[in-house]
Amino acid sequence: MNIDLNILIMAAGLGTRMKSNLAKVLHQLDGRPLINHVVETAMKLDPREVCVIVGHQADDVKAAVLNDFDAAKVSFVIQEKQLGTGDAVNAARSQFEKADSTLIVLSGDVPMITSDTLTALVKAHSGAACTVLSVNLKDPTGYGRVVRDKHDEFDRIVEQKDASDEEKKIDEINSSIYCFDSKKLYAALSQVVNHNAQGEYYLTDVPRILREQDEKIAIFLCDDKREVEGVNDRRQLAAMEKTIRKKTVERLMLESGVTFIDPKSVYVSSCAEFGRDTVIYPNVTIEGKSVIGESCVIRAGTRIKDSNIGDRVEVRDNCLIRDSEVGSDCTVGPMAHLRGHAVMKDGSKVGNFVELKKTTLGKESKASHLTYLGDATIGENTNIGAGTITCNFDGKNKHETHIGDNVKIGSDTMLVAPIKVGDGAATGAGSVVTKDVEKGELVVGIPAKKIKAGEETKASGSE
Ligand code: UD1
Ligand code: CA
Repeated sequence: MNIDLNILIMAAGLGTRMKSNLAKVLHQLDGRPLINHVVETAMKLDPREVCVIVGHQADDVKAAVLNDFDAAKVSFVIQEKQLGTGDAVNAARSQFEKADSTLIVLSGDVPMITSDTLTALVKAHSGAACTVLSVNLKDPTGYGRVVRDKHDEFDRIVEQKDASDEEKKIDEINSSIYCFDSKKLYAALSQVVNHNAQGEYYLTDVPRILREQDEKIAIFLCDDKREVEGVNDRRQLAAMEKTIRKKTVERLMLESGVTFIDPKSVYVSSCAEFGRDTVIYPNVTIEGKSVIGESCVIRAGTRIKDSNIGDRVEVRDNCLIRDSEVGSDCTVGPMAHLRGHAVMKDGSKVGNFVELKKTTLGKESKASHLTYLGDATIGENTNIGAGTITCNFDGKNKHETHIGDNVKIGSDTMLVAPIKVGDGAATGAGSVVTKDVEKGELVVGIPAKKIKAGEETKASGSE
């Protein structure tokens, strides 16, 4: 742990320019709330404390952070009224004003900053009261500008709304990322007033105040402008999403050996992993921490979220796979739905219009058409005929279905759960099975009744 370092993240604002009912830092980028990107980066520096200033939808922001991070490693401070970035930092005064340490201040809406850049910022900061992370932008509109004096040293930061026409021409902007001497920051913060165009307490006034007290203010000019871009409106959010996606897809092509037929049309989470020689068709979405194996083919229109797919799997067009597991050498779809921890064992097959919920389909087993399997376990080498349904819900409770190995479930069978079908058993087409079926038995009819094995030759329907 770096005991001389604390990190403060400002995340209390609503984000008016998002035109949203949702606090800005809760908007998703690369499948995670903006704030969580910043917290993750902060954690990488291993500081003594990461503190998030919350205000708007404080409980939701807190919950979003704690969903991904350990409560022991991150603290929260409430800023009751959003009176500006200076007031936000002031909300954590009691935590940090007496700390003999460096305080990095980050913005919850500047999500692409890297830990490497922050480490370099801390290094550059040595001995200064404040170091401002700046960047040159082609279009600096909207940002605070860094005004330098005649020696090219820091003079002050002026916000867009307070800037003169001359100042608006400055292309060096304040990233809203800073390194402070904790004590000096809070001493200067007491002198910040809200006499400006927005009537807010600006954190940006602190370096000016410190400079007027002959403290050293450093500027750390970052050369990667994308790292310090802020998200203030949805256009910026979309642009950032596009940048991340492009980077992810390029990395997967160059480093993981994945083929993308149409890289631009694909959405792939940066957390997803792929094996080599997997081919991704257009309009595929891979979300969350999904893992896709080697030599898979993922056809057009498929969405896979938080799921594991083995090797040599073909996911045909327009499937939805959530929170599920598909073994190797499986075929899924077209138009199949796997959810609620569905598991397909190696070599199994799920065909068109088949839904698996919380169901395990055993090795080499097949459910090829028009079937719902919920709360079920199915053994190996079993064939589930077209139109089969596990009737798992009695209006109040969910019940389980257990089907053994080498079973033939006839087309259009209704399995009224709770129910068990033993190994090697079979059901006739259209049967409604209400009682357990023993090993090797054949049952037919409504309700299904046992008939002698071999008597009913039309038992199974489809494969
Ligand atoms: C801020 C900087 C600006 C800089 C820009 C970079 C100030 C006054 N201006 O402007 O110089 O170029 O960031 O992105 O600091 N927040 C609070 N409480 C508040 C107000 C804001 O927690 O009372 C949080 C917001 O949730 C946000 C961050 O502080 O995460 C920045 O606030 P925002 O209003 O977006 O500041 P900008 O106008 O972008
Ligand atoms: Ca901002």
